[in-house]
Amino acid sequence: MKALILSGGKGTRLRPLTYTGAKQLVPVANKPILWYGIEAIVAAGITDIGIIISPETGEEVKTKTGTGDRFGAKITYIRQDQPAGLAHAVKIAQPFLGDSPFLMYLGDNLVQSDLSLFIQRFQERNLDALTLLCTVPNPTAFGVAKVDEEGRVLQLVEKPKVPPSNLALVGIYLFSNTVHNAIANIQPSARGELEITDAIQYLIDQPKKVESFQLQGWWLDTGKKDDLLEANRVILDTLLETDVQGKVDENSQVIGRVKIGQGSQVVNCTIRGPVTIGSNCHLENCFIGPYSSVADQVTLVDTDLEHSVILQGAKVIGVQQRIVDSVIGQRAQLSVAPRRPKALRFMIGDDSQIELV
Ligand code: DAU
Repeated sequence: MKALILSGGKGTRLRPLTYTGAKQLVPVANKPILWYGIEAIVAAGITDIGIIISPETGEEVKTKTGTGDRFGAKITYIRQDQPAGLAHAVKIAQPFLGDSPFLMYLGDNLVQSDLSLFIQRFQERNLDALTLLCTVPNPTAFGVAKVDEEGRVLQLVEKPKVPPSNLALVGIYLFSNTVHNAIANIQPSARGELEITDAIQYLIDQPKKVESFQLQGWWLDTGKKDDLLEANRVILDTLLETDVQGKVDENSQVIGRVKIGQGSQVVNCTIRGPVTIGSNCHLENCFIGPYSSVADQVTLVDTDLEHSVILQGAKVIGVQQRIVDSVIGQRAQLSVAPRRPKALRFMIGDDSQIELV
């Protein structure tokens, strides 16, 4: 069995962060989203992994993620010139996939569940496709499945206006090699993409064996800012372990589960976990509240923070009002004069959002 991770696309919903980087590399609890997927795939016993990359962000994905050695896997990068759809990505990966069955994983998804249960079901029942489903309150935002009482998939529709059920397609699928013929027989959708849902519908209509598996545990699609903050909260809540390697002075208080990386200095701060702080950071006179992730080389001085994600190299100085529900991009700088400021001076990138609430 092989795996194909889709890490191309444009990432428009996470702008401005994705102007300068791949959305799949945005960190959740200080680890790129994509790496959680790679780790889950390797934990399920698949080590031959293809990763679809785009011309814009592919080099960054490649440089950061590497050959796969660090995960105990062999990674092959496959360039997709246009984000022409999920089924298009499978089509261009065909030389890598050959006739092997494969697990397809959308690189911006996070799931709690063990993927080996899903793989076992696919193999035992000798299926052509197995889709992972999850009940959601807003099915119109996803691919939606209609299934019978035995879990056989009857119908799939992509982002329907009138959803046939509240069962969303989680971005994880298993396919036999019959999917390649299905993809060869479908046309681009109204939005101009070759849809994997249409390919699966083709298999259903053949009829081939297409079943579903309902996900237990959480599933997070990290497409937008609030989803990213929620993913950060859930990962910190469930996976973070205390590990303090940096220096914490005697005037600081560290409460609950807190991770602090090598070379970081914490001076006169209160840190209330779960919180993760990267390496080589400088934190002085700060309150860092629950569900915050601070990446490497960040400077925080005279700052109050909670339920927020601060990316690499950012500087936040003198912001006494609590910063909440925020994402601050790489190398961004935010500073407030020590006396009450008389004016606000900005240099804000395209698509940024600032709310003084
Ligand atoms: O998150 C689950 C949903 O993912 C499913 O319910 C939908 O059925 C499925 O179509 C997909 O919808 P999205 O709108 O979330 O797909 P998105 O365009 O965000 O792409 C998902 C991932 O695949 C993302 O990491 C980018 C990558 N991608 C996407 C396209 C269109 C590629 O690598 N190449 C592409 O051509």
